[in-house]
Amino acid sequence: MPLETRLLGESFACEVIGLRLWEPQDAQTIDQLRALWANHPVLVFRRQALSEDELADFSARFGPLERTVRTDWASPARPEVAPISNLKDAQARPIGGLGDGEIQWHSDQSYMMEPATGAMLYALELPPEGGTTSWVDLCAAYAGLPARLKQAVEGRRAVFSYAKRLAGYQGVDRVISEEAKQKTPPVLHPLVHTHPATGKKALYLDSTTTIGIDGMDDARGSALLDEIYESATRPEFVYRHHWQVGDALLWDNGFTMHRREPFDPSARRLMKRTTMFLPRDRHIVPEGALATA
Ligand code: SIN
Repeated sequence: MPLETRLLGESFACEVIGLRLWEPQDAQTIDQLRALWANHPVLVFRRQALSEDELADFSARFGPLERTVRTDWASPARPEVAPISNLKDAQARPIGGLGDGEIQWHSDQSYMMEPATGAMLYALELPPEGGTTSWVDLCAAYAGLPARLKQAVEGRRAVFSYAKRLAGYQGVDRVISEEAKQKTPPVLHPLVHTHPATGKKALYLDSTTTIGIDGMDDARGSALLDEIYESATRPEFVYRHHWQVGDALLWDNGFTMHRREPFDPSARRLMKRTTMFLPRDRHIVPEGALATA
């Protein structure tokens, strides 16, 4: 049966109507979702009621689930699921990651040599205001770059650093284990990729991790990055999602960035996230290299 879908406003995000993600989906449905996802990097499924296993099992239909370096955020029941929340346990320890603060434009695993680029976020509890999440379509952003900037990024690689990401976090999120540090040295990724399914070019960016451009001095590299971020995050490339409890969003970090607005720390917000290794033959998956000092 064809999927029932609805574009969300003027944006690239697309709602998929009527799927009950807690039920097993057949291979044809997953193939249709993949095809849709290539053109609509954010897919929205509303009115879901998912256990951690159901969320993880549906996510795993798109690629092997990643256990991120943030083992401190992993759910004790299903470690491939990470609570993204400001809630704390009885000992006042955060039950997950990312608290209540603002999170700037980023692509989830850009600091990894081989990023797991698929992600799903499921809303269980929401604050009365704030905490909205926006995505930017980096295919559209590439197409909208002035010719001069297209030329400037061609063949260039940026340096992505997890240390920069950590410095932007709040409280205990800034602290990682020695093992996690060893796994996250600065890496290089090309700034431009071609989507294997659509043939469209896309930028690969993350304002929370990029610290420069390979082969350019610091001043020129950061000036170029500033110009790219300014052009790429113009409102016409952005979809802003107003969460409802039961929303599950699937997005492709290979050609999007997302950001979250802050919310009242005394309000409750509980989301659950999975990340997946998407296959290179059907998705943009940056191939990283170690950055030398
Ligand atoms: C994230 O950046 O992965 C989390 C976004 C959110 O909390 O809305």
